[in-house]
Amino acid sequence: MYFGVDYHPEQWVYPYGGTRENPEAAWERDVELMQTAGINVVRMGEFTWGLCEPEDGNYNFDWLKRMMDLLGKAGIKIVLATPTAAPPMWLSQAHPEILPVDEHGLVKREGTRRAVCLNSNVFWDYSKRIVEQMAKALGQHPQLIAWQIDNSLGGNFTEAAFNEDARRDWHLWLEAKYETIERLNERMGMRHWGQVVASWSQVPMPMAAPTVHNPALVLDWCRFCSDTIVQFVKMQADVLHKLSPKCPVTTNLRPLIHRFDHFDVAEVLDFVSIESTAALKPKSAELACEIDMLRSLKKSGIRTPDGDTGFWVMEQKAGNVTWQDVNSLVRPGVLRMFTYQLVSRGATAVLFFRWRQPRFGSEQFHGAVLPHRVDPKGRVFQEVVQLGDEMKLLAPSLKGTHVQAETCILYSHDNDWVLQQPMQPNKFFSLREHIQLFYTALHDRNIAVDFARPAEDLSRYKLVFAPSLHLLSGGEADRLKLYVQNGGTLVATFNTGLVDEHNIAPDNGYPHDLTDLFGLEVVEFDQLPPGEENHLVFKGDFPTNHMHPARLWCDIIEPKGCQVIATYAKDFYAGRPALTLHTFGLGKAIYVGTQSHQHFYTDLVTWLRQMCNLHPLLKVPDSVEVSLRQKGDERIFFLLNHQNSPLRIQFYEPMHDFLTGSTFTGGYDLQPHGVLVLDEHGEDKT
Ligand code: GAL
Repeated sequence: MYFGVDYHPEQWVYPYGGTRENPEAAWERDVELMQTAGINVVRMGEFTWGLCEPEDGNYNFDWLKRMMDLLGKAGIKIVLATPTAAPPMWLSQAHPEILPVDEHGLVKREGTRRAVCLNSNVFWDYSKRIVEQMAKALGQHPQLIAWQIDNSLGGNFTEAAFNEDARRDWHLWLEAKYETIERLNERMGMRHWGQVVASWSQVPMPMAAPTVHNPALVLDWCRFCSDTIVQFVKMQADVLHKLSPKCPVTTNLRPLIHRFDHFDVAEVLDFVSIESTAALKPKSAELACEIDMLRSLKKSGIRTPDGDTGFWVMEQKAGNVTWQDVNSLVRPGVLRMFTYQLVSRGATAVLFFRWRQPRFGSEQFHGAVLPHRVDPKGRVFQEVVQLGDEMKLLAPSLKGTHVQAETCILYSHDNDWVLQQPMQPNKFFSLREHIQLFYTALHDRNIAVDFARPAEDLSRYKLVFAPSLHLLSGGEADRLKLYVQNGGTLVATFNTGLVDEHNIAPDNGYPHDLTDLFGLEVVEFDQLPPGEENHLVFKGDFPTNHMHPARLWCDIIEPKGCQVIATYAKDFYAGRPALTLHTFGLGKAIYVGTQSHQHFYTDLVTWLRQMCNLHPLLKVPDSVEVSLRQKGDERIFFLLNHQNSPLRIQFYEPMHDFLTGSTFTGGYDLQPHGVLVLDEHGEDKT
């Protein structure tokens, strides 16, 4: 198991560290302190292009090599990041055509990271060259164990640029997809508002316009921008695989906010790395959802530096960030607890961002393991030291263990991109919030969840949720049917199958290609503003003591063979189905025609647990999060107390505590933000 930090040695030379006589002297003290904290890996290099190539074609990697040698002497391994996230000033000034043009046609200027158009051939060539040079200079270093490609791709609206280079690639991309201009006109429905085109060069980029662009065109634009990012990552991965074949490649990803297909990027990587803003979000289920989503991006073909499966946490923020309105400190014990949340969900390495708080630059007051005035007795440093000791202790037992889920939530970026466009039936609907309602209900019952694209093989799951797959291709619909036909249980919802992969609505009933699977047809859908509600009336054995509202969206359903579990209470569709169940082949297809409050999803999961024979991991109080990593018969439980007060847990069998080595049974007081790492065979371990 790797435990490390993100280090920026270039920022700690004289006059900001070191001495006039020995400008790099501060590095030695940093390495000593890293050893104290049990650190065995460092990531560095991600913003060093301007230092490694101070002028066009003049390279200098010697300083990085000196740093790597120093870390090597201390037995610390290295992940090098390619520096393409921050092009040097001279490059942007010599080739201003690489600067990105925004949707208003204005050039965004140099002087920050990410100021590039990824379709620029010039930028692409310079990027390839610096990656090659870096790999040639440092790729065989004995301490090097992996490469990180670029850094935190996307964000700050940098996923798209409207340069002439982008226009050229966009047209080529469309031509490769549609082959003839007639087909493009037809598939995109360009005859709406008479916007038909006569040649590829007439197809616009969706720049700022008086009103909304054709949604099919915008969807393709999102796909094109995503493919551009994936190709850029692949170009670097190919170079690194060739010149530094022993080291697997990864990149650090953030969930859901950056606009490119993360599953596609994961395909060209050897393993996935994530960023965690654990310290920011008070709700454990929201963080857990993000972790599980990123963990699920790559389920096979994983190659990590130590041969373990799972994912890396390349940036666990060690404290406050700088990009919120109020950047509060992370409370004592909270960093430790959320680091355990990452490990409990399958992380095989955790690196803290960042080692030292920078004295200059835009992230000057970002939290770090060490504050501006280095103090090894400091609060965060001490918490990291404790974690370092604990990870060393746990590493042998965790080796080879992983998270196994029997339930899954379906998600596709294509679908998300369509739903983010304007002119939706209800602008208050949020896919993320809808997913979170299902996820939280599962999380709070400690049921492990994977995420998957709808076209994946789902046969390993007992229960699959498909919240609002508004865009569903014919192939995806077939997959879902096959899954249920063979015995799976599928739960889908309103806002499903309203368009196909070309963004065309069906003329044979919603949800398209799935009316037979659910034994119903959605004939209309009503939209409710926030604050206005309908209600659900249950029939049969659905377990509930609550009054459940119907919010935002109410499908008006014509049953065609399904069993009706709940109906609407009022309005002109009072008494019409809102929740249904249909047996299809060997499985069951459940349809939820509306959105409700959290209690409804909790009840739904209770109902489904019985139906699908899903067992909770351990019986614990509600606010304890339990996760499991396993390998064969070995089962390691993680219990996290997210409360600010102690919680009493009863154990009816002897449990072995990995952190203390002791065995106990009966009542146990889990401290505020406390963590337990346990297995059940207590007597065997002592
Ligand atoms: C990350 C990024 C880091 C740093 C950090 C701030 O996304 O990779 O370089 O900016 O956010 O929280």
